[in-house]
Amino acid sequence: MKISVISAGKKHVLQAEQGANLMECLNEAGLMEGSECGGRGVCGKCVVRVLSGTFADIKDREQYKRFCKENEVLACNCTVTEDAAIEMGYGRDDISRKVRLPGLSEHVGTIETSVSKVYIEMTAPTLHDQLSDIERILAKLPAKTRFSPSILHDLPSKLRKADFKVTCTLFEGEVIAIEAGDTTSACYGCIIDIGTTTVAMYLVDLLTGSVIDARGLANPQRVYGADVLSRITVASTSEGLAKMQDLVRQGIRTVMHVMCADNNIADENVYQAVVVGNTSMSHFFLGVDPANLAVAPFVPCYRQSVTLKGAQAGLSMNPEGYVHVLANISGYVGSDTIGVAMATKPWEKKGITIAVDIGTNGEIILGYKGWVLACSAAAGPAFEGAHIEQGMRAGEGAIERVSLKDDKVTLGIIGDTAPQGICGSGLIDVVAELITAGLITRRGSFVTEKDEGFNQPLASRLRTGGSGIREFVLAYTGEHGNTKDIVLTQKDVRELQLAKAAIAAGIEILVKEAGFTTADVDRCYLAGAFGNYLDKEKAVVLGLFPGIPQEKIIAIGNAAAEGAGMCLLSASQRKMSDRIASFVKPVELSTHPDFNDKWIHCLNFPRITKG
Ligand code: FES
Repeated sequence: MKISVISAGKKHVLQAEQGANLMECLNEAGLMEGSECGGRGVCGKCVVRVLSGTFADIKDREQYKRFCKENEVLACNCTVTEDAAIEMGYGRDDISRKVRLPGLSEHVGTIETSVSKVYIEMTAPTLHDQLSDIERILAKLPAKTRFSPSILHDLPSKLRKADFKVTCTLFEGEVIAIEAGDTTSACYGCIIDIGTTTVAMYLVDLLTGSVIDARGLANPQRVYGADVLSRITVASTSEGLAKMQDLVRQGIRTVMHVMCADNNIADENVYQAVVVGNTSMSHFFLGVDPANLAVAPFVPCYRQSVTLKGAQAGLSMNPEGYVHVLANISGYVGSDTIGVAMATKPWEKKGITIAVDIGTNGEIILGYKGWVLACSAAAGPAFEGAHIEQGMRAGEGAIERVSLKDDKVTLGIIGDTAPQGICGSGLIDVVAELITAGLITRRGSFVTEKDEGFNQPLASRLRTGGSGIREFVLAYTGEHGNTKDIVLTQKDVRELQLAKAAIAAGIEILVKEAGFTTADVDRCYLAGAFGNYLDKEKAVVLGLFPGIPQEKIIAIGNAAAEGAGMCLLSASQRKMSDRIASFVKPVELSTHPDFNDKWIHCLNFPRITKG
């Protein structure tokens, strides 16, 4: 059967078997975006508009009507019965998502890269000079240089075609590539930060340490669920695990290739990559069974760093280049935290330093006088706009800023276009503003007629939505060129409370484990792309960093990637990252005796002190 798909203004034609699940088909074509529930029919993010043809329902579509308007269906609830055409409401181009990724600092770390390139000119062999090709090359290179056997097969023709003028690429004394002519100026590496929701990639010039390009990709595994546990469940069979590995590798491969092509760089000139991610993502990337990460005692298969060839990793790079997957700290604290630790070195700072990397999991490290504690708080994906009724990732059309004054709602929208939904920073903004305005109580409920805060013009935007849930209207249809009302629901506020309570409780427990209180913290680094866009004042209103004043909170950008960049540019930093993994003490929150009490306490919002 033929399914025509319009997505992000482009037309795609898919071939599908009769009876195939529509979401699976879209997923396989790399077109599915937004799904958060793994096809269970509860997130409503796989809505597509049917332009022609019909699909069979798996379950009665009546139960999904709250998600779908006329001619819309949930892709996860449909099977293919005939040729059809659809339009995807959430279709956006995943590749080239440059909008919200911060660049690394202009140069990362001190450059002592493992990769070097040497241009050599040799005389051609004669009857009086019968050195082998290898001996001829090695005579021009430092003593003890070795050859990667895989590059030998086409070496004779390569040398002769290049008239014996070639560039040798060496990785720590091993020749991994021979290229015709002088290509010494083309020497690149890649930093890959695999987040549960977003994969961030940076193309780096290994000669200068400059970041040439940075791209983000919505993690292609997300169609199997926004959270790690859903994906671990899918990976419980060998086919499922292979699927998870393929999805993430294929996504990375595509973006690497596009990034290289856009910068006129050959994939083969990328010789090294460093990968960081939470422990589950690293397991998926390596195709390692993650089952034990989901059950107590949450033991990873491996902790130490793993190095493999580019060809083994299946990336768009020189097949003989090297890919380093940095070490994990524990089942829940992964190599992305090693990256943050490398970039912030909290054990070297005076006093108590905390670094928080907010993502689907909030990784927190605490350093004091040479030692480090780390934990991972299961915040869930709310900060990334997921599990929110009209949530979306930080892309064009996302409301990222909200301010409320008198009867006015002012929105900051990415791309200065009509709003389509709310991203994480917008969510924090609107909830903090509603708390400050007195329209949300400390317990997180919208006020009612009985409450004091109800007597103000903005309360007229509070209503009961179609599904019986109370909501605040951020933008009525047409108010900002939007085609539907954009609302924040009571359930969204609850999701945010759950997420912020997990982070806040994690901070409190880590500080307590170190024998302090949050009032003793000297600085709190806020890592991750999200940190750059988070309004610190609003975060304090929510109680995200309990007891830590705004002036001690410092946004530092994508520190996980920055730490990975240090490992890309320096072999000694790579060794250091392994040492860090062995001296950081992980604190397991889910079994910590204080966690539940702290978490429940942190669900409430702090008291507003006026004045
Ligand atoms: S409702 Fe279809 S993927 Fe969630």
